Amino acid sequence: MMLILSPSILSADFANLGQDVVRTAQAGAEYIHIDVMDGQFVPNISFGMPVIQAIRPVTDKVFDVHLMIDEPVRFIKEFADAGADVITVHAEACKHLHRTIQVIKSYGIKAGVVLNPATSLSAIEEILPEVDMVLLMSVNPGFGGQKYIETTTDKVRRLRRMISDRNLDVDIEVDGGVTLDNVEMLIEAGANIFVAGSAVYKGSVEDNVKGFLEVFKKY
Ligand code: DX5
Ligand code: ZN
Repeated sequence: MMLILSPSILSADFANLGQDVVRTAQAGAEYIHIDVMDGQFVPNISFGMPVIQAIRPVTDKVFDVHLMIDEPVRFIKEFADAGADVITVHAEACKHLHRTIQVIKSYGIKAGVVLNPATSLSAIEEILPEVDMVLLMSVNPGFGGQKYIETTTDKVRRLRRMISDRNLDVDIEVDGGVTLDNVEMLIEAGANIFVAGSAVYKGSVEDNVKGFLEVFKKY
């Protein structure tokens, strides 16, 4: 399975966002992780469609849009139009998760479901065949720079088993506190897409992205 780095621009320099996205892409990251927060589902507000639309022309990389908003079904069209290639929605935020996933797919883009650290894998048993990706939160969503919650590793392992037992082809993405110190453990557990915010934007973006890509090469 292809290993992919998805740097979270939540930790980028908002005054030079376009430039940071270009640098991230040129350094070799395949995805750009875009964290949208509404101040309701999570205790923080980030940015929305106009910002995504503004950075869409600067790169062809995959825009991996993580919606931390209540009832995201209300805005799927807007995020698809703004340039999302993948949209992930929280199981905890959707009254009708199945419908929300179908709406995402109706725009011809990839759909994923996200679980908070305290949400059991049983919450996605029925939706698993319908999604392209499952995103496991390894911190409580809302802020960058938090510490990795260790129990996520075993959750990744159990989810990978669930996917292969059912002969499905679903990506596992991990988001929160991912660093060079825990990424190998997560690869071995079965994750294949890695979000990193502070681990990419603190210091040199180029060196940090290369550090992850070097690790990926070993697998
Ligand atoms: C948290 C966001 C994450 C966050 C990751 O709510 O979903 O994407 O920006 O940042 P780090 O890698 O610093 O934990
Ligand atoms: Zn995220």
